[in-house]
Amino acid sequence: MQHGRGRRALVFILTLSCFVALCLFSISTGRAANRQISGNLPEDGPGLYRFACMACHGADGVGASPDRVGFDIPLPDFTDCSFAPREGNTDWIAVVAEGGPARAFSELMPAFGDALTDSEIEKILNYIRTFCADGAWPRGELNLPRALFTSKAYPEDEAAFTSVFNTEGDGRVLNKIIFEKRFGARNQFEIVVPFGWNEPAVSGVDGDTRWESGLGDVAVSVKRVLFAGLNSGSIVSLGGEIILPTGNEDKGLGKGTPVFEPYIAFGRILPADFFFQFQGGGGLSFDSDKTAHKLFWRLAGGRVFYQGHFGRSWSPMIELLGAKELGSDGGTNWDIVPQFQVTLSRRRHVRLNLGARIPLNDADVRETQFALYLLWDWFDGGFFEGW
Ligand code: HEC
Repeated sequence: MQHGRGRRALVFILTLSCFVALCLFSISTGRAANRQISGNLPEDGPGLYRFACMACHGADGVGASPDRVGFDIPLPDFTDCSFAPREGNTDWIAVVAEGGPARAFSELMPAFGDALTDSEIEKILNYIRTFCADGAWPRGELNLPRALFTSKAYPEDEAAFTSVFNTEGDGRVLNKIIFEKRFGARNQFEIVVPFGWNEPAVSGVDGDTRWESGLGDVAVSVKRVLFAGLNSGSIVSLGGEIILPTGNEDKGLGKGTPVFEPYIAFGRILPADFFFQFQGGGGLSFDSDKTAHKLFWRLAGGRVFYQGHFGRSWSPMIELLGAKELGSDGGTNWDIVPQFQVTLSRRRHVRLNLGARIPLNDADVRETQFALYLLWDWFDGGFFEGW
């Protein structure tokens, strides 16, 4: 009896030891196999791309066919210069590390954050950037957050609604619908349709205030990028706008004469996610009795803050606006505009900016105004897509 119990205990211990040994063995061989995979990981961008991305995105970057990948979600075409350069690395790194849903794309785009290091992802993206060989298309990193008044140097496919309204005194609301469309590698066309409400200084016979509404001066403009360099972090554009006298002068909604506004716009990426923008130009009036010629200059500085590593971005900015009418005795008008822009959609193609335009001089006749815009980068998806 004693003897039998001893044998059973020995068999049990032996079986247990074999089981533990087998487990340890399989774990260690598993580890060895893993190590072998990472040991065999290619080190250069093209090799890493072929290893991790090519199965879906194709050897040439145009995207493998639906038959091959087994799904019919359209794959991006990295050779398409009208698409790839405009997408900045911040967004692409988010998509590669966290997977498609990081920017509200399909989960069929897997997350590689655990499998690849930051430097491997960077090498792959540097390689993907070579698929569009035409360097004329400015890179999306130079697309700095839009300020409320300073025009951007970067050409856009965007629609925006802007509104500026008085906070005190006579009521005045001026809205604009802005539509921007890129053409070619470096150009942009823009149309601005303003409309507004004014509370006239002279009220109606019965003493009631009557708001007047109407269309403002419609403007069309063209902008062209002269220089865009990712290494220098700078972009320079020249633009020209024709403001047409479509607005009612008597209602305070029009200038009564066409005005031509040539301008130069500059954007610069600064260290630590800071940025700076400048726009300077003139307004050449066709009839200087109705509207004086003027000079203007606008500066905007700010910083982008990312919520979480890849989340929403907040961009507080401050603008300094200067304008001077030529041929009049009036001095220069200065305004300061604190504001912040925030991305609303996960794809970051719908954004809101809120701010206040505060006069620094003649504050008794010029009023503080609230200003806002809602913008939609329609190239990146429908307004209701990508949330
Ligand atoms: C299993 C297939 C698959 C693999 C593997 C894959 N992708 Fe994707 N990727 C997709 C799909 C599908 C989309 C499009 C998702 C959409 O449009 O909703 C996509 C989208 C992207 C985008 C977004 C482009 C844009 O529209 O802005 C980037 C960048 C990208 N992939 C990079 C990579 C990189 C880099 C790798 C390799 C490390 C990789 N992908 C591996 C399927 C894949």
